[in-house]
Amino acid sequence: MTTDLDQLRTDLLGSIEAATALDAIEAVRVSTLGKQGSVTGLLKTLGGMSPEERQQTGPRIHALREAVSEALGARKASLEAEALNAKLASETLDMTLPVDGVPAGSVHPVSQVMDELAEIFADLGFAVATGPEIEDDWHNFSALNIPETHPARAMHDTFYLAGDHATPMVLRTHTSPVQIRAMKAAGGNKPVRIIAPGRTYRSDSDATHTPMFHQVEGLVIDKGITLGHLKWTLETFLKAFFERDDIVLRLRPSYFPFTEPSAEVDIGFTVINGKRVIGGDPTKGEGGWMEVLGSGMVHSKVIEAGGFDPNEWQGFAFGCGIDRLAMLKYGMDDLRAFFDGDLRWLKHYGFSALDVPTLSGGVGA
Ligand code: DAH
Repeated sequence: MTTDLDQLRTDLLGSIEAATALDAIEAVRVSTLGKQGSVTGLLKTLGGMSPEERQQTGPRIHALREAVSEALGARKASLEAEALNAKLASETLDMTLPVDGVPAGSVHPVSQVMDELAEIFADLGFAVATGPEIEDDWHNFSALNIPETHPARAMHDTFYLAGDHATPMVLRTHTSPVQIRAMKAAGGNKPVRIIAPGRTYRSDSDATHTPMFHQVEGLVIDKGITLGHLKWTLETFLKAFFERDDIVLRLRPSYFPFTEPSAEVDIGFTVINGKRVIGGDPTKGEGGWMEVLGSGMVHSKVIEAGGFDPNEWQGFAFGCGIDRLAMLKYGMDDLRAFFDGDLRWLKHYGFSALDVPTLSGGVGA
């Protein structure tokens, strides 16, 4: 028995040492310490031994079980370490290699100009107001004194929403309905001073028109407001926007249903090296005038539709194409490219989000 146990121990430890894979180790474990294993079998024989025999052999069998169990654990650990080392050796990472740069997005010129507008008008005490792009025809037309027969109401100019609606719904054709919403929000008894930049829609498409475009609306409602306030505000705004003090404006009498009187505003340009530049004396050389916005004193019917008493309150309003402002300031010449989503265009004309040239000097700086 003694020599048998010694022999068995030598054999088992040998086969454990010889195992080169984790499943071989597992096989040895099952064949020795498993339910039907050889060492387990030996332990079971203890019950049938005489006390003397058990006293002599018992400790040796237990020692064998202990030795086998330890050897299995040690061999398993060393095989696992080997496997890990092999994996580490084959999966090297060069931490010094340069990574591919994360592509940086850019701020679209329209967003840039909207930020500039908000900043300039904030300095003048204007808040930014918003309204829905899907608008009802009362806010978009009727409340703005646009009669049923006005061509702007025709299907070929305006996108109407299909389906049955209590009141016809349109994609707003201008930002002017925000005038009504801002007045209503003010409750008819306190001044309003807002700009409303945003998307607008018309059934139109060529080099200078896209079905979606951007406008900014301006509205002031207060007591004692005159055309002089309008002119000063527009002049101050355009000088700050184009960052030039020598901007000249011309107010041309015009007609809009929602203003009376109405004026179209032209901005003077000069020609330098064959290029039109905003500012300077438009009466010199090849200089001239360019229309930039529509404006006027808010019509009494519109003031009323906004919930204000037109006998007490007056105001001025203006509306301006943002895309065109961006083109004039930053020098793009095709409006359609604004909305093509061509990354090369965006890279060229876009602004860095972290390096936006702000007008932090503000108005009057
Ligand atoms: N809503 C006009 C348009 O889209 C622009 C406009 C003109 C707005 C005169 C105004 C204004 O507020 O006073 O053509």
